[in-house]
Amino acid sequence: MYAITGITGKVGGAVARTLLAAGQPVRAVVRDAARARSWAERGCEVVTADMDDAASLTAAFEGTQGVFILPPSDFDPSPGFPGARTVIDAVRGALQLAGPEKVVCLSTIGAQAAEINLLTQRTLMEQALSTLPMPVTFLRPGWFMENAAWDVAPARDTGTIPSFLQPLDKPVPMVATADVGRVAAQLLLEVWRGVRVIELEGPQRVTPIDIAETFARILGHAVVAEVVQRDTWEALFRSQGMKEPLPRMRMLDGFNEDWITFEGEEADIVKGAVELETILRSLVSQAD
Ligand SMILES: NC(=O)c1ccc[n+]([C@@H]2O[C@H](COP(=O)([O-])OP(=O)(O)OC[C@H]3O[C@@H](n4cnc5c(N)ncnc54)[C@H](OP(=O)(O)O)[C@@H]3O)[C@@H](O)[C@H]2O)c1
Repeated sequence: MYAITGITGKVGGAVARTLLAAGQPVRAVVRDAARARSWAERGCEVVTADMDDAASLTAAFEGTQGVFILPPSDFDPSPGFPGARTVIDAVRGALQLAGPEKVVCLSTIGAQAAEINLLTQRTLMEQALSTLPMPVTFLRPGWFMENAAWDVAPARDTGTIPSFLQPLDKPVPMVATADVGRVAAQLLLEVWRGVRVIELEGPQRVTPIDIAETFARILGHAVVAEVVQRDTWEALFRSQGMKEPLPRMRMLDGFNEDWITFEGEEADIVKGAVELETILRSLVSQAD
């Protein structure tokens, strides 16, 4: 039995589909059982647990060959990351008590960075889970291609997409969530010892200009990428309701200044198969 958290989301869903296709039993770990109906219909066992509740997570992870951990996103964390720390304590405690045979935890490109930024939440998760007794894999994917969902409306309606990734011709490691979930499931089925880090990106690196040109091809009209000047970010993010914009700004700086990068050798980075155009076409059709 494989327990999958985040199964109602993009990556967790892809993990579960891959395991089910391989004939493996899946336990859907959800916080709202009503959202798990389609997984029950596919033959999954369903349990409810919240990622910050050690007791429910322990029950969810008991008796499993493997657990997939999808840490919830928090784009506006309080100073010191108390929310992430609560989740980390609950997840670590539950894994320790339940004792699954192995764990794959979704992390991120740049989890090794020393600078405090949004991704520090995953640095802390990696540190905490690294001392567990069972084999643990941290999967560090690049920037999700699906982040371009925010660009669909401006690309379609104005022909200009704002870019925080800069300069506009700088290639960024990006990957589709379908590849992330597929690789996570394959890793979960492997046998390994100790702690390992697996880095993952798509078939080729992507520039903001590539994103604009791909939208232009799909939409049939000109689309250009436009730099959002760094000195406007804080006021912009605050106007959008963020209370603590700095960690997100530092994350974007990290991509732009090359301190959020893959840690390992180029040859060791796993390559996904899904192309940017496939994802943008699907985002455009979902928005119609
Ligand atoms: N975006 C990027 O570029 C990028 C890059 C690298 C890594 N990542 C990582 O990818 C992850 C996001 O994956 P995704 O795109 O698949 O997310 P998603 O589609 O937004 O799905 C999030 C999942 O987490 C569940 N969830 C959220 N909060 C929860 C809680 N408190 N307790 C239990 N379940 C909870 C959601 O359940 P409900 O259905 O109940 O809401 C949903 O199943 C994050 O860990 C992020 O750090 C993102």
